[in-house]
Amino acid sequence: MPTGSLSSAGCSKMPEAPIFDLAGKRVWVAGHRGLVGSALVRRLARERCEVLTAGRDVADLRRRDDVDALYASLRPDVVILAAARVGGILANNSFPVDFLHDNLAIANNVIAGAAESGVEKLLFLGSSCIYPREAPQPIREEALLSAPLEPTNEWYAVAKIAGLKLCQAYRRQYGCDFISAMPTNLYGPGDNFDIASAHVIPGLLAKVRKAMEDDARTIEVWGTGRPRREFLYVDDLADALVHLLRHYSDEPPINVGTGSEVTIADLAWTICEAAGYSGGLQFDTSRPDGTMRKLLDVSRLHGLGWRAGTSLRDGIARTWLWYLDAHDSVVRDARVTA
Ligand SMILES: NC(=O)c1ccc[n+]([C@@H]2O[C@H](COP(=O)([O-])OP(=O)(O)OC[C@H]3O[C@@H](n4cnc5c(N)ncnc54)[C@H](OP(=O)(O)O)[C@@H]3O)[C@@H](O)[C@H]2O)c1
Repeated sequence: MPTGSLSSAGCSKMPEAPIFDLAGKRVWVAGHRGLVGSALVRRLARERCEVLTAGRDVADLRRRDDVDALYASLRPDVVILAAARVGGILANNSFPVDFLHDNLAIANNVIAGAAESGVEKLLFLGSSCIYPREAPQPIREEALLSAPLEPTNEWYAVAKIAGLKLCQAYRRQYGCDFISAMPTNLYGPGDNFDIASAHVIPGLLAKVRKAMEDDARTIEVWGTGRPRREFLYVDDLADALVHLLRHYSDEPPINVGTGSEVTIADLAWTICEAAGYSGGLQFDTSRPDGTMRKLLDVSRLHGLGWRAGTSLRDGIARTWLWYLDAHDSVVRDARVTA
């Protein structure tokens, strides 16, 4: 079916010669305005390729006609699928149909459309929540579908598993060079800082900013502070995805992370230090801790010659400065229009 035949910071050892060259390619970044998509646009600006983008106003990726029309107009050689309905536990629990349906539709339309329009290489983005709730830690790619999922985000996880399986199926049946990357928790510029729906790092940064404005003596941290989590700076992820496009072509999904973890309590202290907040932490133990540990095994990625280059402390400091800048401009604009 497919018409086409059917490749400083980051490298730890000299990677093999690239198996796929991005130079001169037309690269569509689906979801270019999101946390990951915007980091990819920043990273690809350093490559000799043409970056293609189209907003939701141009194409709703849940609609097959929109996607087919987009392929006809963009004619990409490479696709990075960073578009998805993403959200925290509350949103997943409140809108299971949206999280399952939208992510299934987006994956199916973009992946099938890529195969039918002869795209040379596609990278599908899943997430570490595809792995079983009780997977042995650190979590190896082989743990996929070996035990039950975390119930609070299974709708989203099932759609992501379907997407990576679709990539495998197109590779097996039609020889499509479609790969899948499973990033750990991400943070950085362009994240969602709305306290009610944000992930832990932007959520705590927003709480610290408010505490500093209100001169509050403490900030509230959900849970006991004991769970351990892994966090990857989003610009490092973008660098890893470019590395995978160049150096990875195989069926299994590949984990992307730092390989190191931190307790939520230590994370919160690191955030306070980065912001220069001298107040204390108030742990609200009536709130859920979630699973006590979630660390990816990234030995396969390291074997391909890539390692994360930004420390958690540096990543948080950069994100804090970006947030203040973005927030001040929001406050500033609000004041101007008021
Ligand atoms: N954030 C994390 O911690 C994390 C961790 C692991 C994996 N990931 C994966 O990374 C990918 C990107 O996540 P993210 O954090 O960058 O999410 P995000 O910031 O919410 O960005 C998602 C993007 O997808 C676009 N989009 C959503 N539905 C669409 C539709 N129907 N039609 C067209 N565009 C649509 C959004 O467009 P608008 O700008 O118009 O809203 C947005 O630009 C996802 O596949 C996610 O699974 C994220």
